[in-house]
Amino acid sequence: MSALEEFSMDLPIIDLDVFLQQGRDSPEVKAECTKAANALITYGALVLHDSRVAEEDNTVFLDLLENYFAQPEELLKKDERPEFSYQIGVTLENTEKPKCAVDEPCLRVIERLAPSERPLDITGHHPDPKCRFFWRMVEPPPYKTQFPGLNADNVTPEAPHIKERWGPVMNKWGSSMKNAVEGLAQMTAVGLGLPADTFKDAGRYGPHLLAPTASDLSKYGKKDTILAGFHTDLNFLTIHGRSRYPGLHIWARNTGKRIPVKIPQGNYLLVQAGKQLEYITGGLIKAGYHEVVVNERTVQVIEDRKTRFPERPLIRISSTFFWHLSSDYDLAPIPALAEEARRVRAEQFQLGRDEGEEAEYPPIKVGEQVSNELKHIALMA
Ligand SMILES: [Fe+2]
Repeated sequence: MSALEEFSMDLPIIDLDVFLQQGRDSPEVKAECTKAANALITYGALVLHDSRVAEEDNTVFLDLLENYFAQPEELLKKDERPEFSYQIGVTLENTEKPKCAVDEPCLRVIERLAPSERPLDITGHHPDPKCRFFWRMVEPPPYKTQFPGLNADNVTPEAPHIKERWGPVMNKWGSSMKNAVEGLAQMTAVGLGLPADTFKDAGRYGPHLLAPTASDLSKYGKKDTILAGFHTDLNFLTIHGRSRYPGLHIWARNTGKRIPVKIPQGNYLLVQAGKQLEYITGGLIKAGYHEVVVNERTVQVIEDRKTRFPERPLIRISSTFFWHLSSDYDLAPIPALAEEARRVRAEQFQLGRDEGEEAEYPPIKVGEQVSNELKHIALMA
Protein backbone atom coordinates (compact mmCIF):
# COMPACT_ATOMS: atom_id res chain seq x y z
CA MET A 1 0.00 0.00 0.00
CA SER A 2 1.47 3.38 -0.93
CA ALA A 3 1.63 6.27 1.52
CA LEU A 4 -1.12 8.04 -0.41
CA GLU A 5 -3.58 5.23 0.17
CA GLU A 6 -2.83 4.95 3.85
CA PHE A 7 -5.52 5.05 6.55
CA SER A 8 -6.72 8.62 6.66
CA MET A 9 -6.49 10.78 9.73
CA ASP A 10 -9.65 10.47 11.71
CA LEU A 11 -8.84 11.78 15.17
CA PRO A 12 -11.61 13.38 17.23
CA ILE A 13 -11.63 17.20 17.09
CA ILE A 14 -12.05 18.80 20.51
CA ASP A 15 -13.23 22.40 20.73
CA LEU A 16 -11.48 24.34 23.50
CA ASP A 17 -13.68 27.37 22.66
CA VAL A 18 -16.70 25.51 24.04
CA PHE A 19 -14.89 24.99 27.35
CA LEU A 20 -13.63 28.57 27.56
CA GLN A 21 -16.78 30.35 26.47
CA GLN A 22 -19.60 28.44 28.14
CA GLY A 23 -20.46 27.78 31.79
CA ARG A 24 -18.60 24.90 33.40
CA ASP A 25 -21.91 23.25 34.33
CA SER A 26 -23.41 23.39 30.85
CA PRO A 27 -24.17 20.03 29.20
CA GLU A 28 -22.18 21.09 26.10
CA VAL A 29 -19.06 21.66 28.18
CA LYS A 30 -19.45 18.36 30.01
CA ALA A 31 -19.95 16.49 26.74
CA GLU A 32 -16.89 18.12 25.15
CA CYS A 33 -14.75 17.24 28.19
CA THR A 34 -15.91 13.61 28.10
CA LYS A 35 -15.10 13.54 24.40
CA ALA A 36 -11.58 14.84 25.14
CA ALA A 37 -10.90 12.23 27.84
CA ASN A 38 -12.28 9.42 25.68
CA ALA A 39 -10.20 10.55 22.70
CA LEU A 40 -7.05 10.28 24.82
CA ILE A 41 -8.09 6.87 26.19
CA THR A 42 -8.88 5.48 22.74
CA TYR A 43 -6.32 7.19 20.51
CA GLY A 44 -3.72 8.72 22.85
CA ALA A 45 -4.12 11.80 20.64
CA LEU A 46 -6.65 14.36 19.42
CA VAL A 47 -6.98 17.49 17.31
CA LEU A 48 -7.62 20.62 19.39
CA HIS A 49 -9.41 23.70 18.10
CA ASP A 50 -8.53 26.97 19.85
CA SER A 51 -9.59 30.17 18.08
CA ARG A 52 -7.07 32.20 20.16
CA VAL A 53 -4.19 30.52 18.28
CA ALA A 54 -3.09 32.63 15.28
CA GLU A 55 -1.80 30.91 12.14
CA GLU A 56 0.42 33.97 11.52
CA ASP A 57 2.33 33.35 14.79
CA ASN A 58 3.15 29.81 13.62
CA THR A 59 4.35 31.17 10.25
CA VAL A 60 6.65 33.74 11.87
CA PHE A 61 7.95 31.05 14.23
CA LEU A 62 8.64 28.53 11.43
CA ASP A 63 10.49 31.17 9.32
CA LEU A 64 12.71 32.18 12.26
CA LEU A 65 13.52 28.57 13.15
CA GLU A 66 14.37 27.72 9.53
CA ASN A 67 16.81 30.66 9.52
CA TYR A 68 18.30 29.59 12.85
CA PHE A 69 18.93 25.97 11.86
CA ALA A 70 20.30 27.02 8.44
CA GLN A 71 23.34 28.54 10.28
CA PRO A 72 26.72 26.73 10.14
CA GLU A 73 27.25 24.02 12.75
CA GLU A 74 30.05 25.95 14.56
CA LEU A 75 27.54 28.68 15.40
CA LEU A 76 24.84 26.25 16.49
CA LYS A 77 27.33 24.46 18.74
CA LYS A 78 27.66 27.61 20.86
CA ASP A 79 24.07 27.04 21.97
CA GLU A 80 24.67 23.47 23.24
CA ARG A 81 24.46 22.80 27.00
CA PRO A 82 25.47 19.14 27.60
CA GLU A 83 26.03 19.98 31.30
CA PHE A 84 22.25 20.40 31.58
CA SER A 85 21.60 17.15 29.70
CA TYR A 86 20.62 19.25 26.63
CA GLN A 87 17.42 20.28 28.43
CA ILE A 88 18.02 23.89 27.32
CA GLY A 89 19.56 25.32 24.13
CA VAL A 90 20.29 23.27 21.05
CA THR A 91 20.70 19.50 20.54
CA LEU A 92 22.49 18.78 17.27
CA GLU A 93 21.65 15.90 14.98
CA ASN A 94 22.70 12.35 15.81
CA THR A 95 22.69 12.84 19.59
CA GLU A 96 19.33 11.46 20.70
CA LYS A 97 18.64 7.74 20.22
CA PRO A 98 15.18 6.23 19.97
CA LYS A 99 14.79 4.41 23.27
CA CYS A 100 12.50 1.79 21.82
CA ALA A 101 15.35 -0.05 20.05
CA VAL A 102 16.66 -1.27 23.42
CA ASP A 103 13.37 -1.31 25.32
CA GLU A 104 11.68 -4.73 25.50
CA PRO A 105 8.08 -3.58 26.15
CA CYS A 106 8.36 -1.16 23.23
CA LEU A 107 9.72 -3.82 20.88
CA ARG A 108 6.77 -6.05 21.89
CA VAL A 109 4.41 -3.20 20.91
CA ILE A 110 5.93 -3.25 17.40
CA GLU A 111 5.69 -7.06 17.20
CA ARG A 112 1.99 -6.95 18.01
CA LEU A 113 1.34 -4.64 15.04
CA ALA A 114 0.53 -6.15 11.66
CA PRO A 115 3.70 -6.00 9.51
CA SER A 116 2.11 -3.42 7.18
CA GLU A 117 1.38 -1.10 10.13
CA ARG A 118 4.82 -1.20 11.74
CA PRO A 119 7.12 1.83 12.04
CA LEU A 120 10.32 2.07 10.00
CA ASP A 121 12.97 -0.28 11.41
CA ILE A 122 14.78 1.19 14.42
CA THR A 123 16.61 -1.96 15.58
CA GLY A 124 19.99 -0.51 14.49
CA HIS A 125 19.54 1.99 17.39
CA HIS A 126 21.08 4.77 15.31
CA PRO A 127 20.73 8.28 16.72
CA ASP A 128 18.02 10.43 15.13
CA PRO A 129 19.20 12.82 12.38
CA LYS A 130 17.27 15.70 13.88
CA CYS A 131 18.30 18.88 15.66
CA ARG A 132 16.26 20.49 18.38
CA PHE A 133 16.04 23.65 20.43
CA PHE A 134 14.70 23.63 23.96
CA TRP A 135 13.21 26.89 25.22
CA ARG A 136 11.87 26.75 28.77
CA MET A 137 8.51 28.36 29.51
CA VAL A 138 8.46 28.13 33.24
CA GLU A 139 6.94 29.81 36.28
CA PRO A 140 9.66 29.59 38.98
CA PRO A 141 8.44 27.57 41.96
CA PRO A 142 7.99 29.46 45.25
CA TYR A 143 9.83 26.61 47.02
CA LYS A 144 13.36 25.17 46.74
CA THR A 145 13.26 22.54 44.02
CA GLN A 146 15.02 19.19 44.41
CA PHE A 147 15.70 19.27 40.65
CA PRO A 148 17.51 22.53 39.83
CA GLY A 149 19.30 20.97 36.81
CA LEU A 150 16.02 20.81 34.94
CA ASN A 151 15.24 24.43 35.79
CA ALA A 152 18.21 26.34 34.27
CA ASP A 153 18.25 29.64 32.27
CA ASN A 154 17.34 29.88 28.56
CA VAL A 155 19.91 30.29 25.77
CA THR A 156 19.52 33.12 23.22
CA PRO A 157 21.41 32.66 19.92
CA GLU A 158 24.03 35.31 19.13
CA ALA A 159 23.53 35.88 15.38
CA PRO A 160 22.47 39.52 14.84
CA HIS A 161 19.64 38.62 12.41
CA ILE A 162 18.13 36.29 15.04
CA LYS A 163 19.10 37.52 18.50
CA GLU A 164 16.58 40.35 18.98
CA ARG A 165 13.59 38.51 17.60
CA TRP A 166 14.28 35.17 19.28
CA GLY A 167 12.80 35.69 22.75
CA PRO A 168 9.62 37.51 21.64
CA VAL A 169 8.83 35.03 18.81
CA MET A 170 9.53 31.96 20.96
CA ASN A 171 7.46 33.33 23.84
CA LYS A 172 4.54 34.37 21.65
CA TRP A 173 4.10 31.04 19.89
CA GLY A 174 5.07 29.13 23.03
CA SER A 175 2.39 30.93 25.08
CA SER A 176 -0.29 30.13 22.49
CA MET A 177 0.56 26.45 22.68
CA LYS A 178 0.94 26.49 26.48
CA ASN A 179 -2.46 28.14 26.99
CA ALA A 180 -4.08 25.69 24.60
CA VAL A 181 -2.57 22.61 26.22
CA GLU A 182 -3.40 23.82 29.74
CA GLY A 183 -7.00 24.28 28.64
CA LEU A 184 -7.02 20.74 27.35
CA ALA A 185 -5.46 19.49 30.62
CA GLN A 186 -8.45 21.05 32.40
CA MET A 187 -10.94 19.52 29.96
CA THR A 188 -9.30 16.10 30.36
CA ALA A 189 -9.50 16.31 34.16
CA VAL A 190 -13.22 17.17 33.99
CA GLY A 191 -13.81 14.39 31.49
CA LEU A 192 -12.15 11.91 33.86
CA GLY A 193 -14.39 13.03 36.74
CA LEU A 194 -11.71 15.08 38.53
CA PRO A 195 -11.72 18.76 39.59
CA ALA A 196 -10.82 20.88 36.53
CA ASP A 197 -7.49 22.12 37.90
CA THR A 198 -6.13 18.74 39.06
CA PHE A 199 -3.55 18.41 36.27
CA LYS A 200 -3.05 22.11 35.59
CA ASP A 201 -2.09 22.72 39.23
CA ALA A 202 0.15 19.62 39.30
CA GLY A 203 2.03 21.11 36.33
CA ARG A 204 2.04 24.77 37.38
CA TYR A 205 5.82 24.82 38.01
CA GLY A 206 6.65 22.17 35.43
CA PRO A 207 9.76 22.58 33.24
CA HIS A 208 7.63 23.15 30.13
CA LEU A 209 9.56 23.32 26.90
CA LEU A 210 8.93 24.86 23.55
CA ALA A 211 10.95 22.30 21.60
CA PRO A 212 11.05 22.81 17.84
CA THR A 213 12.89 20.05 15.98
CA ALA A 214 14.67 20.58 12.68
CA SER A 215 15.52 18.06 9.99
CA ASP A 216 17.75 19.07 7.09
CA LEU A 217 15.82 17.68 4.13
CA SER A 218 18.62 18.51 1.69
CA LYS A 219 20.64 15.81 3.55
CA TYR A 220 17.87 13.60 4.87
CA GLY A 221 15.11 14.01 2.29
CA LYS A 222 15.11 10.51 0.79
CA LYS A 223 11.91 8.51 1.13
CA ASP A 224 11.85 6.21 4.18
CA THR A 225 14.49 8.15 6.11
CA ILE A 226 13.76 8.09 9.84
CA LEU A 227 13.87 11.62 11.27
CA ALA A 228 12.68 10.56 14.73
CA GLY A 229 12.36 6.84 15.42
CA PHE A 230 9.28 5.19 16.99
CA HIS A 231 8.85 6.38 20.60
CA THR A 232 6.55 7.88 23.22
CA ASP A 233 7.10 11.25 24.96
CA LEU A 234 8.22 11.34 28.59
CA ASN A 235 6.20 14.43 29.61
CA PHE A 236 2.46 14.88 30.34
CA LEU A 237 0.96 16.23 27.11
CA THR A 238 2.70 17.25 23.86
CA ILE A 239 1.11 19.81 21.56
CA HIS A 240 2.14 20.54 17.96
CA GLY A 241 1.33 23.29 15.50
CA ARG A 242 1.19 22.41 11.81
CA SER A 243 4.52 21.61 10.18
CA ARG A 244 5.21 22.67 6.58
CA TYR A 245 6.21 19.10 5.74
CA PRO A 246 4.13 15.99 6.46
CA GLY A 247 5.86 12.99 8.04
CA LEU A 248 4.46 12.52 11.55
CA HIS A 249 2.83 9.11 11.99
CA ILE A 250 0.95 8.15 15.13
CA TRP A 251 -0.40 4.82 16.36
CA ALA A 252 -3.80 4.95 17.98
CA ARG A 253 -4.03 2.42 20.79
CA ASN A 254 -7.23 0.78 19.66
CA THR A 255 -6.85 0.75 15.90
CA GLY A 256 -3.43 -0.87 15.43
CA LYS A 257 -3.05 1.45 12.42
CA ARG A 258 -0.25 3.77 11.46
CA ILE A 259 -1.96 7.13 10.94
CA PRO A 260 -0.28 9.93 8.94
CA VAL A 261 -1.17 13.12 10.79
CA LYS A 262 -2.89 15.94 8.97
CA ILE A 263 -3.70 19.03 10.99
CA PRO A 264 -6.46 21.12 9.36
CA GLN A 265 -5.62 24.70 8.27
CA GLY A 266 -6.52 27.40 10.76
CA ASN A 267 -6.61 27.28 14.55
CA TYR A 268 -5.96 23.57 14.97
CA LEU A 269 -3.27 21.82 16.98
CA LEU A 270 -2.39 18.18 17.56
CA VAL A 271 -2.14 16.89 21.13
CA GLN A 272 -0.60 13.61 22.25
CA ALA A 273 -0.53 11.88 25.63
CA GLY A 274 2.87 11.38 27.25
CA LYS A 275 4.24 9.09 29.98
CA GLN A 276 3.32 11.32 32.93
CA LEU A 277 -0.34 11.25 31.91
CA GLU A 278 -0.13 7.47 31.51
CA TYR A 279 1.41 7.24 34.98
CA ILE A 280 -1.10 9.43 36.82
CA THR A 281 -4.04 7.60 35.20
CA GLY A 282 -2.54 4.17 35.99
CA GLY A 283 -2.44 3.37 32.28
CA LEU A 284 -6.04 4.38 31.54
CA ILE A 285 -4.60 6.85 29.05
CA LYS A 286 -1.49 5.46 27.39
CA ALA A 287 1.39 7.53 26.06
CA GLY A 288 0.96 7.62 22.27
CA TYR A 289 3.60 6.06 20.01
CA HIS A 290 4.79 8.09 17.05
CA GLU A 291 7.60 8.49 14.51
CA VAL A 292 8.66 11.21 12.06
CA VAL A 293 9.81 9.92 8.68
CA VAL A 294 10.17 11.02 5.09
CA ASN A 295 7.08 9.55 3.40
CA GLU A 296 5.75 10.05 -0.15
CA ARG A 297 3.90 13.20 0.80
CA THR A 298 7.01 14.64 2.47
CA VAL A 299 8.89 14.11 -0.81
CA GLN A 300 6.10 15.82 -2.78
CA VAL A 301 6.18 18.86 -0.47
CA ILE A 302 10.00 19.02 -0.71
CA GLU A 303 9.73 19.16 -4.52
CA ASP A 304 6.94 21.71 -4.34
CA ARG A 305 8.79 24.03 -1.95
CA LYS A 306 12.02 23.78 -4.02
CA THR A 307 10.08 25.27 -6.93
CA ARG A 308 8.02 27.83 -5.06
CA PHE A 309 10.59 28.99 -2.46
CA PRO A 310 14.01 28.28 -4.01
CA GLU A 311 15.70 30.79 -1.68
CA ARG A 312 14.40 29.21 1.55
CA PRO A 313 16.32 26.53 3.52
CA LEU A 314 14.92 22.99 3.03
CA ILE A 315 14.49 22.34 6.71
CA ARG A 316 11.53 20.58 8.29
CA ILE A 317 10.61 22.38 11.51
CA SER A 318 8.12 20.78 13.81
CA SER A 319 6.66 23.20 16.29
CA THR A 320 6.38 21.11 19.41
CA PHE A 321 5.62 22.06 23.00
CA PHE A 322 6.22 19.59 25.86
CA TRP A 323 3.97 20.27 28.84
CA HIS A 324 5.31 18.70 32.05
CA LEU A 325 4.12 18.12 35.59
CA SER A 326 6.19 19.98 38.23
CA SER A 327 9.53 18.22 38.92
CA ASP A 328 8.85 17.98 42.68
CA TYR A 329 5.34 16.56 42.22
CA ASP A 330 4.75 13.07 43.65
CA LEU A 331 3.62 11.02 40.70
CA ALA A 332 1.34 8.05 41.42
CA PRO A 333 -1.81 6.64 39.83
CA ILE A 334 -5.08 8.21 40.99
CA PRO A 335 -6.87 5.13 42.49
CA ALA A 336 -10.24 5.54 40.73
CA LEU A 337 -8.50 5.92 37.36
CA ALA A 338 -6.19 2.94 37.99
CA GLU A 339 -9.29 0.84 38.67
CA GLU A 340 -10.92 2.05 35.46
CA ALA A 341 -7.65 1.26 33.64
CA ARG A 342 -7.83 -2.37 34.79
CA ARG A 343 -11.45 -2.57 33.64
CA VAL A 344 -10.61 -1.16 30.18
CA ARG A 345 -7.63 -3.51 29.90
CA ALA A 346 -9.79 -6.56 30.71
CA GLU A 347 -12.40 -5.35 28.20
CA GLN A 348 -9.72 -4.98 25.52
CA PHE A 349 -8.49 -8.49 26.26
CA GLN A 350 -12.03 -9.85 25.87
CA LEU A 351 -12.14 -8.18 22.45
CA GLY A 352 -8.96 -10.02 21.48
CA ARG A 353 -6.68 -6.99 21.84
CA ASP A 354 -3.67 -8.10 23.84
CA GLU A 355 -1.99 -5.01 25.31
CA GLY A 356 1.03 -6.96 26.57
CA GLU A 357 2.34 -7.22 30.11
CA GLU A 358 0.68 -4.95 32.65
CA ALA A 359 2.86 -1.92 33.35
CA GLU A 360 3.69 -0.91 36.94
CA TYR A 361 3.48 2.67 38.19
CA PRO A 362 5.26 2.84 41.57
CA PRO A 363 5.15 6.28 43.28
CA ILE A 364 8.03 8.50 42.11
CA LYS A 365 8.97 12.19 41.96
CA VAL A 366 8.36 13.59 38.47
CA GLY A 367 11.98 14.81 38.33
CA GLU A 368 13.21 11.23 38.88
CA GLN A 369 10.84 9.83 36.28
CA VAL A 370 12.22 12.37 33.78
CA SER A 371 15.88 11.51 34.51
CA ASN A 372 15.14 7.78 34.18
CA GLU A 373 13.67 8.39 30.74
CA LEU A 374 16.56 10.64 29.65
CA LYS A 375 19.11 7.93 30.51
CA HIS A 376 17.28 5.63 28.10
CA ILE A 377 17.58 8.07 25.19
CA ALA A 378 21.32 8.72 25.76
CA LEU A 379 20.99 12.40 26.70
CA MET A 380 22.14 11.99 30.32
CA ALA A 381 25.21 10.08 31.51
FE1 LIG B 1 8.00 12.66 20.35
